[in-house]
Amino acid sequence: MRKVYNFSPGPAMLPASVLERAREELRGWRSSGVTPMEMSHRGADFIGIAEKAEAALRAALAVPSNYKVLFLAGGATGQFAAAPMNLLRGKTKAAYIETGYWSRKAIDEAKLFADVGVAASSRDGGFATIPPQASWRFDPTAAYLHYTANETIGGVEFHEAPRVDDVPLVVDMSSNLLSRPIDVTQFALIYASTQKNLGLAGLAVVIVREDMIGRPLPGTPSIFDYRRQADERSMVNTPPTYAWYMAGLMLEWLAEQGGVEAIERRNIRKASRLYAAIDASPFYSNFIDPAVRSRMNAPFRLADANRDKSFLAAAADAGLVSLEGHRSVGGMRASIYNAMPEEGVETLISFMLDFEKRWG
Ligand SMILES: Cc1ncc(COP(=O)(O)O)c(C=O)c1O
Repeated sequence: MRKVYNFSPGPAMLPASVLERAREELRGWRSSGVTPMEMSHRGADFIGIAEKAEAALRAALAVPSNYKVLFLAGGATGQFAAAPMNLLRGKTKAAYIETGYWSRKAIDEAKLFADVGVAASSRDGGFATIPPQASWRFDPTAAYLHYTANETIGGVEFHEAPRVDDVPLVVDMSSNLLSRPIDVTQFALIYASTQKNLGLAGLAVVIVREDMIGRPLPGTPSIFDYRRQADERSMVNTPPTYAWYMAGLMLEWLAEQGGVEAIERRNIRKASRLYAAIDASPFYSNFIDPAVRSRMNAPFRLADANRDKSFLAAAADAGLVSLEGHRSVGGMRASIYNAMPEEGVETLISFMLDFEKRWG
């Protein structure tokens, strides 16, 4: 098969060894002859898979024992609703930081449940930066402050978690969870969809501090009630078992790579090489404040947008696929999650230099 590097923003590329293992285990799991796709979620085999994945996630991020780890259906969009449903806890106000497309989605969904205050927004600057924390203004009675750690579409990333001592911190880490170490104790709630660094779409992981749960908004559906899900080990209903299994394989792979510290070093090398190549060329540009450029998603433009289509076609011919920018931004975007090897980024850079030589 032709070698392809897939720069898709998600569902995203998976490591070859993870795909190989999944393929192997589809031939029959250990001695049982039943594959992970076909197991009852209540059976001992799947319970083993589920517990191992949870333990691996706890180990990867050093999740303290006073946090619950949940594996829930509905992706991060489900969590846009579940966060206010669970964390308002008798209050009405919630504060949000707006840094792009995904934080706006979170805000709009939260408005169904809460009186949402936008504490800071970079909309006026075209979402090219993150408003400095000193400029954030939010009601201290807000139930929580929410931000999006990495704007997958805009290519803006918080390189440090904000320090807010007076209000619980909630974060959407869909596109950078497990790409670097984090201090879980800074957060009341972390959630992430899994189709970037944790495998397949449809699932979300939730890491929530125990004292935050147990007072859901009246009317909260049981599948969104963190307390009930925690009590029932994320099995209030049948969970997306195969996505959960794949998350487990991704976590085993991450541990083999040396864990989040080692993967962070690799991610820094990949992103720095790519941005350096873009910055060195008059033919390509990235329009994000260099201090907050994303390590996971690098949007870039060609000096002449008329060449976009031929760039994408030639890239695809060279085995570099899914480089098209989001329709709301245009241009190109290279998503370089944990599974993208350094050779993939190097191959992209060589292709870009070649294309520039031909057309620049
Ligand atoms: C930062 C961020 N938040 C939320 C979502 C929504 O995730 P899902 O489509 O799994 O609900 C995405 C999807 O790409 C995302 O990148």
